[in-house]
Amino acid sequence: MSRSAHPAGPRHADVLPEGHYSAPPADLNALDPKVWAQTVERGEDGVVTVGGIGVTQLAEEYGTPAYVLDEADFRARARAWRTAFGADADVFYAGKAFLSRAVVRWLHEEGLNLDVCSGGELATALSAGMPADRIAFHGNNKSPEEIERAVRAGVGRIVLDSFQEIVRVAHIAQSLGKRQRVQIRITVGVEAHTHEFIATAHEDQKFGIPLAGGHAAEAVRRALQLDGLELIGIHSHIGSQIFDMSGFEVAAHRVVGLLKDIRDEHGIELPEIDLGGGLGIAYTSDDDPREPHEIAKALTEIVTRECESAKLRTPRISVEPGRAIVGPTAFTLYEVGTVKPLDGLRTYVSVDGGMSDNIRTALYDAEYTVALVSRASDAEPMLVRVVGKHCESGDIVVKDAFLPGDLAPGDLIAVPATGAYCRSMASNYNHVLRPPVVAVRGGEARVVVRRETEEDLLRLDVG
Ligand code: LLP
Repeated sequence: MSRSAHPAGPRHADVLPEGHYSAPPADLNALDPKVWAQTVERGEDGVVTVGGIGVTQLAEEYGTPAYVLDEADFRARARAWRTAFGADADVFYAGKAFLSRAVVRWLHEEGLNLDVCSGGELATALSAGMPADRIAFHGNNKSPEEIERAVRAGVGRIVLDSFQEIVRVAHIAQSLGKRQRVQIRITVGVEAHTHEFIATAHEDQKFGIPLAGGHAAEAVRRALQLDGLELIGIHSHIGSQIFDMSGFEVAAHRVVGLLKDIRDEHGIELPEIDLGGGLGIAYTSDDDPREPHEIAKALTEIVTRECESAKLRTPRISVEPGRAIVGPTAFTLYEVGTVKPLDGLRTYVSVDGGMSDNIRTALYDAEYTVALVSRASDAEPMLVRVVGKHCESGDIVVKDAFLPGDLAPGDLIAVPATGAYCRSMASNYNHVLRPPVVAVRGGEARVVVRRETEEDLLRLDVG
């Protein structure tokens, strides 16, 4: 890696331009444990290590960009959720956040279940040995082929998302001589405080069946009539990257209300409710996420209380955290390519990846932080925008952050909290190759998803 200095420029504009940043942090070499994976630390030589391995070594062995995943942290977070909810509840990790066979094995070993939402995710889960009865199958438009595969495999539950799907799953199950365990996903009419694209409990959207207007009650009536279905519960997922627990509380209240109506109308008490995922994580030091045990306590208490007052047996609760487990456990390691100071504005730092490995900034206006990780520096902070190598000015990885003013091409920088919805939403835009996922644990690193190659790209291009 070259370490050539770049021409002197405005390291830190006198008047900072508009942006989402606060003042530069007191110590640019410090790594806030809130946003970095648990085993990340800066060694005495200034190089950041994870799982006991230096990022310079990782870059040499595996190249950049790379997603670096702290396996011990992943397992610890998975275990914390499992322990917090205890034996009377189930934790389904939401595979859409990030799924690979290694992750499936870790989840299995740590006693978690898995939520999948496509044939591809189902195939990954089954091929890594997740028992089918611990898999939940989601999606607002599952194909008949996907449904058939899921039913044949014996998935623990299919979450029904529409009236048409109720009939579709029932017919497929019946034709296979099976009775499929199902939940019905409802929208409870809660406005979750998060980005519009990731809020899912208000009624004007594609997921679920509205509670309002009696639609959910009608869906239950129909499901109960069909021989191919065993209705085991009601599902609600209100959105993602949520910090405020009140939305979950209202959702729990309304779901229990429906259980009560079902008991009153049909004389049955459904044994399960699923309150979905959606718990927020810290992307920057300003975020204050809840711990799994606080979430478990809050949700369990409200469900128990509501059930007591409705004289219902407390159903088995399940939750589906994705981001809260995998998000904080990985960072993306990039090499700095160019450093371009713009007078009075900011310095553009271009890295060897971009919106193809992290679309979240462009898509949701997401905020991230960044640090120089291949060395420590005492240089003055400079306001930077970390951008990728794609042919779009919206190709931004970190909108506003501070890096040391002596940052130079060849330096390694890392963006923390990229474990969720980065590799899983990665693309080949501009035929840029998707980075590998390198898992690190106890001084050892191994590739769990390899880097894409030009051969991979060309293999698909059969014209
Ligand atoms: N359960 C269901 C039914 C879901 O739809 C989701 C996420 C989850 C669980 C997991 O939610 P989590 O705990 O990870 O927040 N691409 C967006 C997030 C989309 C979430 C989609 N559904 C992002 O990058 O923020």
